[in-house]
Amino acid sequence: MSTTPAFDMVLFGGTGDLAMRKILPALFEAHRDGTLHPDGRILALGRAAGARDDYLAQVERQSRAHVRVAADDPHWQDFLRRIDFLQLDAEKAEDFRSLAARLRDVPQQRVVVCYLATAPRLFAPICAQLAACGLNHDNVRVVLEKPLGNDLRSSEEINAEVARHFQEQQIYRIDHYLGKESVQNLMAIRFGNVLFEPLWRREWIDHVQITIAEDLGVESRGEFYEKTGALRDMLQNHLLQLLCMVAMEPPASLDADAIRDEKLKVLKALKPMREDDVPRCTVRGQYRAGASGGKPVVGYRQESDVSPNSRTETFVAVRAEIANWRWSGVPFFLRTGKRLADRLAEIVINFRPVPLNLFGMPASLQGVNRMVIRLQPEERISLHFLAKQAGDGMRLQPTSLDLDLLSTSSGRRADAYERLLLDVIRGQLGLFMRRDELTAAWRWVEPILEAWAADTSEPRSYTAGTWGPAASSALLSRDGVAWHEEL
Ligand code: BG6
Repeated sequence: MSTTPAFDMVLFGGTGDLAMRKILPALFEAHRDGTLHPDGRILALGRAAGARDDYLAQVERQSRAHVRVAADDPHWQDFLRRIDFLQLDAEKAEDFRSLAARLRDVPQQRVVVCYLATAPRLFAPICAQLAACGLNHDNVRVVLEKPLGNDLRSSEEINAEVARHFQEQQIYRIDHYLGKESVQNLMAIRFGNVLFEPLWRREWIDHVQITIAEDLGVESRGEFYEKTGALRDMLQNHLLQLLCMVAMEPPASLDADAIRDEKLKVLKALKPMREDDVPRCTVRGQYRAGASGGKPVVGYRQESDVSPNSRTETFVAVRAEIANWRWSGVPFFLRTGKRLADRLAEIVINFRPVPLNLFGMPASLQGVNRMVIRLQPEERISLHFLAKQAGDGMRLQPTSLDLDLLSTSSGRRADAYERLLLDVIRGQLGLFMRRDELTAAWRWVEPILEAWAADTSEPRSYTAGTWGPAASSALLSRDGVAWHEEL
C-alpha cells in the first residue's frame, strides 16, 4: 500500500482514553507498517500543563499496552519521535494562538488533521477557534468522534456550527464500525458477486436480524452511559449503518458520495415510528446482577457513577421496516446490549420457505435457508440449507456451508481506527458519515427517544450473561420468528 501524504495530526483530547487506547495505537500500527509518510507529525493537546517528556511517559504507560510490540522494538522509539505535546484549553483563545504559532511554518498544501477526541459540547467552540486562527483552510480536515449530539436538535446545532467554519468535504464524522474489515467485506460480498443479488429482496427474504452483543458491562463509563444509553450509543449509529450496508442499492461507483447517497436513501425510507408503534416495536432493557465468563457481576444500577434508580437502557431491540420497492414488508430486527451472553456482531438473512413442501418437512425446517454473516469476533459466512440424509428413503437434514474469511485472506487486518485515520490523511470520505445521513438517522430514532422519555415504566430487567429480556424474544415471536441463537 502507498504511503500517506505528509501530515500534521493535531490531537484534541490527546491525554484522554480514546487517544491512548485507540488513536495512538492505530497510528503506531500504520507507522510500523510503513504506511505513514516519514514526515507525518502528531501534535497531542491536553489541558494539563506538561512537557513533551511527561506526555511520552504517559503514552508509554497507557498506550503501549494496546499495541503488540516487543520491549526493544525500534519502531516504537521511532514512532515516539513523531509525537509532540502542547498544553491547550479548548476554551481559551490565546491557547489557539499558540497552536497556530506552532503550525505557522506548515505550508498550506500540507494536510492538517484536527482530530476532536473530546466531549461533543467542545466541537463547535474548537472549530470556531480554529477558524479564527486561519486553521480552516482547504487542507485542514476535522474529525468528529461520536456521539454527535444527543438528539436531532443538538446534532443539528453542532453540525450547523461546524459548517460555519468548515466545508462538508473537510468534515470526517467517525463511526468506527464502517472502518471494520468485516463491514467493508459486506460491500464486497454483495456487489462483487452476482450470486446474492437476485435473492436480495422481499420476494426471497423473510426477515433480517442484526445483532451487536457485548459481554462487558459499562466498565468505567458509567457517567457517560447514564446520559447516553444503548439507543444513542449503538443503535442510532453502528446498527443503522449496518442496516444501510445490508439494504442499500448497488452504488454506481465507489465514489464517497455515490455510496453515501445510497445509504441515505435507506435511512430516509425507514418507516417512521409513530408514538403507538414504539411499545410494540421496541424493547428497552437493563441488566441486573448475574454472571459473565463464569464470574458474578453486579447489575447496572450498582455500577460506579450510575444512579441506583437509573432507567437508562443497556439493551435495545427494535423492529424496523424499510418502505421501498425492494424491502417493503420485510422486518429488520436490530438489537444490541451490554452484559449479554457473548461478544459478537452478526447479520442473519433469513430466506422464505420453499413454495411447495415436497419432502413433507415439519414447519420448523421449512424456513431453514439462512445466511449468517459473522462480523466479529470471527469473520465467517455460513449458508444454511437442507440436504439429503444418507441412506434409505428421502429424509432431509439441515446442513451448512461455512466460509472462514480470516483463513481465505492472508493480508494484515488493520484495526478500524487505523483504516479510518489513513483515509482521513488521504482525504477519502467514503467511510465517514455525511451530515444528511446523520440527520436522517437521528430523525428516525427521535420518536423512540421521545416515547421512552415520556414513559415512566421501568426498563425490562435481564440477568447479566443472558441474551436480554424475554420481551426481546416476544418482539420476534409476534412475526412467527426467533432470534438466531434460539433456533
Ligand atoms: C462504541 C460504544 O461506539 O462501540 C461502546 O460507545 C461500545 O459502548 C463499542 O462498547 C463497541 O465497539 P466494538 O468495536 O468493540 O464492537
